[in-house]
Amino acid sequence: MSKQSDSRITTLGNLKLTQSDLSVIEKLRDTISSERIITYQFSEEQKGLMKQWYEDLLSKNPSIVDTYVPPNGRALVSEIDAFGKFLLEKIFVGEKDLELLQNLRSISRDPSLTAISISGFNDRSDRIFSYLVDGAMSDLMRIHDSQDETENHKHIFIDPRQLDIRNFGQVGGVIEPHADDLYKEDEKVNVLLLTTVCNETGVPTELYSLNNVIQKVEEKHNKEYADKCLLALYHGRATFRSGVNVGGSEVTATHNIISFNGNVVDWCFDMRFFGKQARMYDVQSCDEKGLVSHEMVKDAVSLIKEVIYECEPVRGSKATGDFLAVANMKSVHARIQKAIPTQQQLEKQERGEGFRDLYRAKGRQHRENSFTKWEDRVKPEAMTGPQITGQ
Ligand SMILES: [Fe+2]
Repeated sequence: MSKQSDSRITTLGNLKLTQSDLSVIEKLRDTISSERIITYQFSEEQKGLMKQWYEDLLSKNPSIVDTYVPPNGRALVSEIDAFGKFLLEKIFVGEKDLELLQNLRSISRDPSLTAISISGFNDRSDRIFSYLVDGAMSDLMRIHDSQDETENHKHIFIDPRQLDIRNFGQVGGVIEPHADDLYKEDEKVNVLLLTTVCNETGVPTELYSLNNVIQKVEEKHNKEYADKCLLALYHGRATFRSGVNVGGSEVTATHNIISFNGNVVDWCFDMRFFGKQARMYDVQSCDEKGLVSHEMVKDAVSLIKEVIYECEPVRGSKATGDFLAVANMKSVHARIQKAIPTQQQLEKQERGEGFRDLYRAKGRQHRENSFTKWEDRVKPEAMTGPQITGQ
């Protein structure tokens, strides 16, 4: 074991757990250990209906194909509305579908739900259809998609001129584990949606949950040590800075590393660098009793960074037609393999076709029923989700 690890063990080892700490740890552990990921696959019948709907749309509006360019902001608004209505009326109609819809609508507020993966929206690469999926699912889930003018977040593809850059979505390099947009003070991004148009690189988006990471600390050390690590993170805070994708001056915000409102655990963590600067920095303790020192929080953060790559991640957003909804602060996401394209794929990109193409929506999930005009089919309980305060 290295000297650095020895000193970390000593620092966290010095943390004395009081009775009230143990009760906080127990509640935190209970919440994060209930984390679950839902997977859902459309039936052949559902796929056929969606295909037919899209073919009808193209035959009524053939000009869409000629005029469509991947947009930065909102486009095809009436088509997105029509597709959302169709999904509710013809696709999400069975009991299991309504349950899925309810889970989609409460992902940010449900203490146990970290991600929902849906496969089979389409079986061939089609930017227009995937864009309609992105928009209609955002609306059904009540995600107020961030419209940040400094960032083109909607269409994600690999830019062949910047293959080796790390930690930036439009490139083929490694992206280290992080939650999105922690540098924003006012605009909380609690849900991310990824719709895969195509992904010939085979490199997936990976999710690491807090529970898995703490379990790994426990496995490598022991339960008490993992408890101390969790408590140090709970009393810790850090500042997060914007990266290369935000134009102009740097934006920063400070957050607790772990926040817990009694129901939902938010985990603010970012292992990325922007140049030589860590995106997450100025890590310190905010423990009012002074029992958890700055060093202990720093050591807990270092420990998490050390063990995270030994955890088994959940892999998603890999294949054409995949849709992944992620609760942004209940897990961290990453792309830990390089996505280096072949010559053939680079030529495809030159022709404007794309070989790793995704749409992304991200923003705050709103509770209010602002899309009621075509939603009367949905059961009342599916409209509201669990009654959880503080969100
Ligand atoms: Fe991200």
